[in-house]
Amino acid sequence: MSHFATHEWPMLLLILVRLLIIFPALNSDTDRDALLSLKSQLSDPSGALASWRNDSSMFCDWHGVTCSRHNASQVISLDLESLNLTGQIFPCIAQLSFLSRIHMPNNQLNGHISPDIGLLTRLTYLNLSMNSLNGVIPHSISSCSRLEVISLQSNSLQGEIPQSLAECSFLQKIVLSNNNLQGSIPSKFGLLANLSVILLSSNSLSGSIPELLGSTRSLTEVNLNNNSISGKIPPSIFNSTTLSYIDLSHNHLSGSIPPFSKSSMPLQLLSLAENNLTGEIPVSLGNISSLSFLLLSQNNLQGSIPESLSKIVNLRVLNLKYNNLSGVVPPALFNISSLTDLILNNNQLVGTIPANLGSTLSNITELVIGGNQFEGQIPNSLANASNLQTLDIRSNLFSGHIPSLGLLSELKMLDLGTNMLQING
Ligand SMILES: *[C@@H]1O[C@H](CO)[C@@H](O)[C@H](O)[C@H]1NC(C)=O
Ligand SMILES: *[C@@H]1O[C@H](CO)[C@@H](O)[C@H](O)[C@H]1NC(C)=O
Ligand SMILES: *[C@@H]1O[C@H](CO)[C@@H](O)[C@H](O)[C@H]1NC(C)=O
Ligand SMILES: *[C@@H]1O[C@H](CO)[C@@H](O)[C@H](O)[C@H]1NC(C)=O
Ligand SMILES: *[C@@H]1O[C@H](CO)[C@@H](O)[C@H](O)[C@H]1NC(C)=O
Ligand SMILES: *[C@@H]1O[C@H](CO)[C@@H](O)[C@H](O)[C@H]1NC(C)=O
Ligand SMILES: *[C@@H]1O[C@H](CO)[C@@H](O)[C@H](O)[C@H]1NC(C)=O
Ligand SMILES: *[C@@H]1O[C@H](CO)[C@@H](O)[C@H](O)[C@H]1NC(C)=O
Ligand SMILES: *[C@@H]1O[C@H](CO)[C@@H](O)[C@H](O)[C@H]1NC(C)=O
Ligand SMILES: *[C@@H]1O[C@H](CO)[C@@H](O)[C@H](O)[C@H]1NC(C)=O
Ligand SMILES: *[C@@H]1O[C@H](CO)[C@@H](O)[C@H](O)[C@H]1NC(C)=O
Ligand SMILES: *[C@@H]1O[C@H](CO)[C@@H](O)[C@H](O)[C@H]1NC(C)=O
Repeated sequence: MSHFATHEWPMLLLILVRLLIIFPALNSDTDRDALLSLKSQLSDPSGALASWRNDSSMFCDWHGVTCSRHNASQVISLDLESLNLTGQIFPCIAQLSFLSRIHMPNNQLNGHISPDIGLLTRLTYLNLSMNSLNGVIPHSISSCSRLEVISLQSNSLQGEIPQSLAECSFLQKIVLSNNNLQGSIPSKFGLLANLSVILLSSNSLSGSIPELLGSTRSLTEVNLNNNSISGKIPPSIFNSTTLSYIDLSHNHLSGSIPPFSKSSMPLQLLSLAENNLTGEIPVSLGNISSLSFLLLSQNNLQGSIPESLSKIVNLRVLNLKYNNLSGVVPPALFNISSLTDLILNNNQLVGTIPANLGSTLSNITELVIGGNQFEGQIPNSLANASNLQTLDIRSNLFSGHIPSLGLLSELKMLDLGTNMLQING
């Protein structure tokens, strides 16, 4: 030791301290220790983690734990769904640095998602839906750069969706519904090349719908239902050739419904209900023959119902209630034999109802046309609509006799009030 000059001691100490810091990281028990400290943070009344024993070294066999095939010291997946687990998984879980999959939905996990989540750089799948997580989604989530699926729905998360999440360029599914998230939708989500599902319903999101969302090449499902989103619907969204599910209902959207320019759009559900949309129903909507559910109710739409809608041969639910639609209902609409729910109440519609309605709409379960100015007879053929559950023709100008509906065994709601009907004698 005597050959060391005294001034070199601080340097040696530094090297020694560094070695002490590095050494534990080389210990192959790291992931086992991390699992045990994770368990120590959780309450497990159902005993789901009974196999996670501190006297067992075979942690790859513990319930819900999967290790790498290449290196049995590395935990790559945690699958712990619906096990009544309570407590905080952060920051302990972030010590499992090889994790690529966290699937722990439907427990009672609480506490914050700590910024340490950014240590999980190999994470591709994160599903903590249906828990009690609170606090914000940390910006450091962008360090999880391989993330493909993020599902945090039905928690109590607040704050804004971090813009940095859009830096996870492999993202395919973003599911953040049923939280208390505020602020606007990061516009750069529209740049995610492989984004297919974005579900953000029942939050308090505001701002407008990012224009770019319409230009994503692989988007199939968008649900922004029940937020405070305003502005116009970007026309690019209805120019998509991939979207099959669009729910923008219960927001503050205004302006008119953009035209549908691609008849190859595989759209099955379109709901724009409960907004402040004006103008007419676009005629081009009739070119979307894949539609099964069309819900435009509770807006301020005007003009007549386009004849083209009758070309939608798979239409099951048509709901246009509480608008300002006028004119005659195109007779061909009553020929869409797949219709189960036809809801047109509280508009300014006029004219008669075809006499053969009960046979052309043989699957109809709900016929709600009250609060219009329909006239003429209630079709006797309705007696053949054996699935009919709800018949509401209240507040119209119907006259003549009431058909005998006594054989409609499913009928639960019948409202013929405020018309000019005669009681059968
Ligand atoms: C191992 O777990 C048992 C029961 O959970 C506990 O009593 C014991 O103190 C633990 N031992 C160590 C070394 O942590
Ligand atoms: C396996 O992983 C552990 C923990 O990361 C590491 O210390 C060890 O060197 C790895 N073994 C091999 C053969 O790669
Ligand atoms: C979770 O708790 C509920 C109610 O206590 C119980 O019915 C259920 O079986 C538990 N689940 C598991 C996986 O133990
Ligand atoms: C998350 O887990 C739940 C419960 O298993 C599942 O229904 C849901 O599809 C998962 N979310 C995603 C985006 O995979
Ligand atoms: C998108 O998906 C394709 C095909 O699965 C894949 O080759 C590509 O790397 C992905 N790109 C991104 C940015 O995730
Ligand atoms: C709408 O979202 C709020 C939370 O923002 C929630 O409390 C409410 O139940 C949701 N309403 C519906 C109809 O889903
Ligand atoms: C719709 O797509 C076509 C190309 O197919 C493009 O020329 C047009 O600008 C797009 N319109 C909108 C509103 O995005
Ligand atoms: C939609 O259908 C009408 C005829 O009903 C046709 O004139 C129009 O070109 C179609 N639009 C598209 C985008 O296919
Ligand atoms: C709906 O839009 C009209 C203008 O078109 C505006 O005056 C009104 O305040 C809006 N209503 C709501 C509830 O946003
Ligand atoms: C309903 O539409 C008519 C034109 O068809 C218009 O004169 C009237 O102002 C509209 N009513 C409302 C409440 O917007
Ligand atoms: C509706 O279908 C009936 C036959 O089921 C047919 O006679 C009638 O012309 C059709 N109406 C329209 C408007 O297409
Ligand atoms: C009527 O409903 C039945 C049972 O859901 C279905 O199989 C049948 O295809 C429907 N008919 C039409 C014309 O859509």
